[in-house]
Amino acid sequence: MAEFDFLASDERSVQIGLWFREHLAGYAMALVEGQDCHLINLAIEAPYRKQGWAKRLVHTLLELAVNRGGRRCHLEVRSSNDAAIQLYTSLGFQKAGIRLRYYSKPTEDACVMECILPLQVAAYTDPS
Ligand SMILES: CC(C)(COP(=O)(O)OP(=O)(O)OC[C@H]1O[C@@H](n2cnc3c(N)ncnc32)[C@H](O)[C@@H]1OP(=O)(O)O)[C@@H](O)C(=O)NCCC(=O)NCCS
Repeated sequence: MAEFDFLASDERSVQIGLWFREHLAGYAMALVEGQDCHLINLAIEAPYRKQGWAKRLVHTLLELAVNRGGRRCHLEVRSSNDAAIQLYTSLGFQKAGIRLRYYSKPTEDACVMECILPLQVAAYTDPS
């Protein structure tokens, strides 16, 4: 994993990419304003899913956010996105509310999730 900056020129943004040589296989982005961190985007390319990469990516991103002063994080996720909701729950996020019809194409409610930073869970378990 490595930081990269070509996706965002906004000075509030933090972003992390999952690179395999020159290939970007996943990324996560957040905006940090004061103590508030808003996780705005996360995606892992299909062949790389279910291997723990998203969990490690979000964990690393939120460490960067903490270094910028972030003390809490919130995000929106489609209410039908069980994989992402499970992922965020496993990192310590809790459901905090619903934003009605937040998404379009297709129209869907957003589940709002939030957590206190720094995260209290490990990104992955060391097998040794
Ligand atoms: C959601 C997404 C980022 C997960 O990426 P990933 O690298 O596969 O996730 P991880 O391997 O790190 O999984 C971590 C945890 O998330 C949950 N999870 C991940 N994929 C899941 C799935 N398909 N079904 C149920 N739970 C899932 C599990 O709790 C998993 O822990 P476990 O493997 O110990 O059970 C990926 O599926 C994706 O890019 N989806 C499309 C974009 C998207 O939905 N982004 C989120 C926007 S809010």
